[in-house]
Amino acid sequence: MKWAGGKSRLLDRLMKRLPAGRFATYAEPFCGGGAMFFALAAEPVRRFERALLADKNAELVALYQAIKLDVEPLIDRLQGYQDDYLRLGDDERRKRFYTVRALTTEQMSPVDRGARLLFLNKTCFNGLWRVNAKGHFNVPFGKYASPRILDIEVLRAAHEALSVADIRLADFSEVTRELRRGDFVYFDPPYVPVSKTANFTAYASARFGPAEQDRLATELAVLRKRGVSAMLSNASTAEMRTLYEGHGFFVDTILAARAINSDPSKRGDVSELVVTTYETGEARPAKPAKPAKPAKPAKPAKPAKPAKKPARRRAAG
Ligand SMILES: C[S@@+](CC[C@H](N)C(=O)[O-])C[C@H]1O[C@@H](n2cnc3c(N)ncnc32)[C@H](O)[C@@H]1O
Repeated sequence: MKWAGGKSRLLDRLMKRLPAGRFATYAEPFCGGGAMFFALAAEPVRRFERALLADKNAELVALYQAIKLDVEPLIDRLQGYQDDYLRLGDDERRKRFYTVRALTTEQMSPVDRGARLLFLNKTCFNGLWRVNAKGHFNVPFGKYASPRILDIEVLRAAHEALSVADIRLADFSEVTRELRRGDFVYFDPPYVPVSKTANFTAYASARFGPAEQDRLATELAVLRKRGVSAMLSNASTAEMRTLYEGHGFFVDTILAARAINSDPSKRGDVSELVVTTYETGEARPAKPAKPAKPAKPAKPAKPAKPAKKPARRRAAG
């Protein structure tokens, strides 16, 4: 699934930086599209026994729970969505999109909720998920000739992967408090904006502001003390570097192509931080701050030069 901030294009570089060996629990508390989890679950020899996934987005969590519980009813629902949609003309498709978008989901079953999310994700503009202050999905219609609303193979593989996962609608801290030595956690939080004018992606109605970024860095330090290995991604800004280097983590920079931006001119490469609690062979530990140089002894004041003779004024005239 396409998800704002999704990590599929960075996976090779992130996976190179995973800790060696196996983990008892693999945790991803900002799961989103779960690129890292699904890649790890697809490895021929799994390096984790169980997974703990969480997100604050209720629609996304409902989707994963539906896939895990029994994927076939979800496949049937999506088949219905796809058959109907592909039969419609442009105007009717647009109407169908806005009707589905306007549905209130609180009373829906996880299957209906999950099917709605996937339908909207595949038919909206740019395939991203963004919500307004009330938490309602507000991305406009995207005009695609034949969107793939249903991918049976991918859904069945996701069902298989999620069979060992505990999936929660929760704040990241609820996940981290359960982790122990031998576990591994990957944090991919909403990024800090790279500039004052940059947009902050709203994945859920609660914003992830500076206080949340600090809370996360503190949590990473607690985990390191407990012997849990952790990796974290964020935008490479001076504040983030200072924050994580200040805690003495390993901080590394990688280049990422940023795809989701409504302005194509802002889709170029950006650098991202990869912070780890362990050595990766790629990143050097943050250098301790240099001790301040001792102040140079003040030079003795030069003796004052004797005053120059005043220039003789030419006599006027
Ligand atoms: C950058 S995205 C994760 C992308 C993901 N790694 C992927 O590959 O698609 C960040 C996610 O964090 C979730 N989120 C925001 N605040 C949260 C919080 N306090 N606790 C847990 N999840 C949160 C958002 O809903 C969003 O899905």
